Amino acid sequence: MNILVNGGAGYIGSHVVKQLGEQGDHHITVVDNLVTGFEDAVLYGDLVKLDLSEFDKVDKLFEEKKFDAVIHFAASLIVPESVSDPIKYYMNNTVNTTNVIKCCIKHGVNRFIFSSTAATYGEPDSSLIPIKEDAPTAPINPYGSSKLMSETILKDTAFAHPDFKYIALRYFNVAGASIDGKIGQSTKGATHLIKVAAETACGKRDKMFVFGDDYDTPDGTCIRDYIHVEDLASAHLKALEYLEEGNDSDLFNCGYGHGFSVLEVLETMKEVSGVDFKVEINDRRAGDPAILVSDNSKIKKKMGWQPKYDDLKLICKTALDWEKKI
Ligand SMILES: NC(=O)c1ccc[n+]([C@@H]2O[C@H](COP(=O)([O-])OP(=O)(O)OC[C@H]3O[C@@H](n4cnc5c(N)ncnc54)[C@H](O)[C@@H]3O)[C@@H](O)[C@H]2O)c1
Repeated sequence: MNILVNGGAGYIGSHVVKQLGEQGDHHITVVDNLVTGFEDAVLYGDLVKLDLSEFDKVDKLFEEKKFDAVIHFAASLIVPESVSDPIKYYMNNTVNTTNVIKCCIKHGVNRFIFSSTAATYGEPDSSLIPIKEDAPTAPINPYGSSKLMSETILKDTAFAHPDFKYIALRYFNVAGASIDGKIGQSTKGATHLIKVAAETACGKRDKMFVFGDDYDTPDGTCIRDYIHVEDLASAHLKALEYLEEGNDSDLFNCGYGHGFSVLEVLETMKEVSGVDFKVEINDRRAGDPAILVSDNSKIKKKMGWQPKYDDLKLICKTALDWEKKI
């Protein structure tokens, strides 16, 4: 297949490009402005350094390359920044995505895989956990809203253009690095728990913080569903196959269907690293639900996706090994 991967130099995109490259039967073009991505993370295909806001250039690329499918990761994704600078998020995550969808329609590209997020669910009622795809969406920040808007635009476009099919994947908490250690998360100033814990275990930070230990959970800290980046990447390959088989547009959660508390994650990172790093308890952050865990039965049943790395120790170990390398 001739595939355009927008944001393929980023953390998750580069793992998908790697798996597509290893399949061997694709022509891959990565478009990335390298704002948070890294050229050396792109192990396969051609990298085109381009900002997706440059519509004419994106349109020209579609004209020249005759893609069969688009996988769209490119986005801005720092939640507090989305609160202070919402326009940046609506421009990059919604307007630029809409322009790419527009190019797909114009140039007859009928397969689109979209990176969405559990942030579209907002702070779900605890009775809805583990959360299913048909739970109400109620994002509580511009980041989540900007992604939900793109989902709506995809849905409306697919309705108006029946040949156009899309899959939106709502990721839960993505973590870890490639099993062979070749790529991982290099994001600067990342706020992701496992990445921060790996940095602290490596001595790149003096200490780290736990935001709230008075939640209604067994140890008082928030519970999240951590998915290994290789399993998440394989869901994209499955999604492409699913559309190739002639299935309809759809929306799927990507998670393991069970969670770990912040303290459990930190204990695991301490165990795999052998470093008893310093952890301080801070106040809660606004907008952190106590528990956010996926119901992943839909993607397993409809796409036949089977995770291989549902193992918190392995997730922490791959993240740590990568952190030591960079
Ligand atoms: N990391 C997570 O835990 C997580 C969770 C849920 C959803 N997501 C979604 O997954 C996707 C990928 O996230 P990631 O963690 O790999 O982030 P990332 O920042 O590592 O990757 C994003 C990539 O897109 C590129 N990019 C951004 N704006 C661009 C533009 N206008 N033009 C061209 N390139 C542009 C960046 O340079 C970067 O390489 C995002 O859409 C994000 O919202 C991530």
